[in-house]
Amino acid sequence: MSLEGQVALVTGASRGIGRAICVALAEQGAQVFAAARSTDAVQAWGRALPELAGRIAPVALDVTQRAAIDRTIDEIIERRERLDIVVNNAGITRDGLLMNMEDDQFEDVLTTNLRGAFWITRAASRHMVRARRGRIINISSISGIAGNAGQANYAAAKAGLIGLSKSVAKELGKRGVTCNVVAPGFIETDMTDVLPEKLKEQVRQHVPLQRFGQPHEVAALVAFLAGPGAAYITGQVFAVDGGLHT
Ligand code: NAI
Repeated sequence: MSLEGQVALVTGASRGIGRAICVALAEQGAQVFAAARSTDAVQAWGRALPELAGRIAPVALDVTQRAAIDRTIDEIIERRERLDIVVNNAGITRDGLLMNMEDDQFEDVLTTNLRGAFWITRAASRHMVRARRGRIINISSISGIAGNAGQANYAAAKAGLIGLSKSVAKELGKRGVTCNVVAPGFIETDMTDVLPEKLKEQVRQHVPLQRFGQPHEVAALVAFLAGPGAAYITGQVFAVDGGLHT
C-alpha cells in the first residue's frame, strides 16, 4: 500500500467524488480525515466499508468557515503530528445565465469552490512546508478550462483553482510540496443527477468514450497524484472526462 502511514484530508467527503477519493486513499493505506458539513453521511458510508474502518475519520467542516478550517487542521496535526495529503474537493453549482446572475449566486460559488480551497491550502501548507513534504490536489472542472454557458460563476471559481494551484506549485516546490489539479468532465453524482435528461443525452453524444464517468475513475487519478509515482509532477492539470475536452 503506497500511502501507508500518511495522513490525508479530503473535503466534501459526504458523497460522490469526495467519498470515492476517501475510499481510494484509504485503500492505499492512508489515514483519511473525511471532512463534510455533517459527519452523519460519512459515518453511514463508512459503516458499509468495514474493511476500511479505522482508516476513515469523519470530521465536521464547512469550507466556507475560515476559522473552523484553521482549527480543524491544527487538530489533525495535534492528533497525528502530520498532514501529507490535502484534497480540495468540496464544491457547489448555482447555475444561471450571466444576465440574470445574482451577486450572491456568484459569491456563494466563489466562496465554496475557491476561497475554501485557498483557506485550506494556506493552513495546510504551513505544516507541509515545515515537514518539507506534501501533496495538494485540487478538484477543478472542465468548465474551468473551457468555460460553460450558464456557469460563469462556477467556471470562474474552477479556473481560479487552476491559477491558485500553479502558483502554489511554483511557490512550494522547493519545500517538497506538490500541487496539481484534477479536472473532471461529466461524472455521475448527485451534482449532475439534477440536470435534465435531454441535456445529459446531448453531452453524452459529445463524449468520445460515449459514457459519463464514475467517481472512482476520478479518485484513481487523485490516489496516483498522492502517491510515490507522482513525486516529480507538480503544477499540472489533468482532465478525467472521457475525451470531452481535447
Ligand atoms: P456532489 O454535489 O455530489 O458533492 C459535493 C460535495 O461537496 C458534497 O459532499 C457537499 O456536501 C460538499 N460541499 C458543498 N458545500 C460544502 C461546504 N460549504 N463545506 C463542505 N462541503 C461542502 O458533487 P460531486 O460531483 O461529487 O463533486 C465533487 C467535486 O467535483 C466538486 O468540486 C465539483 O465541482 C467537481 N466536479 C464534478 C463534476 C461532475 O460531473 N460531477 C464535474 C467537474 C467537477
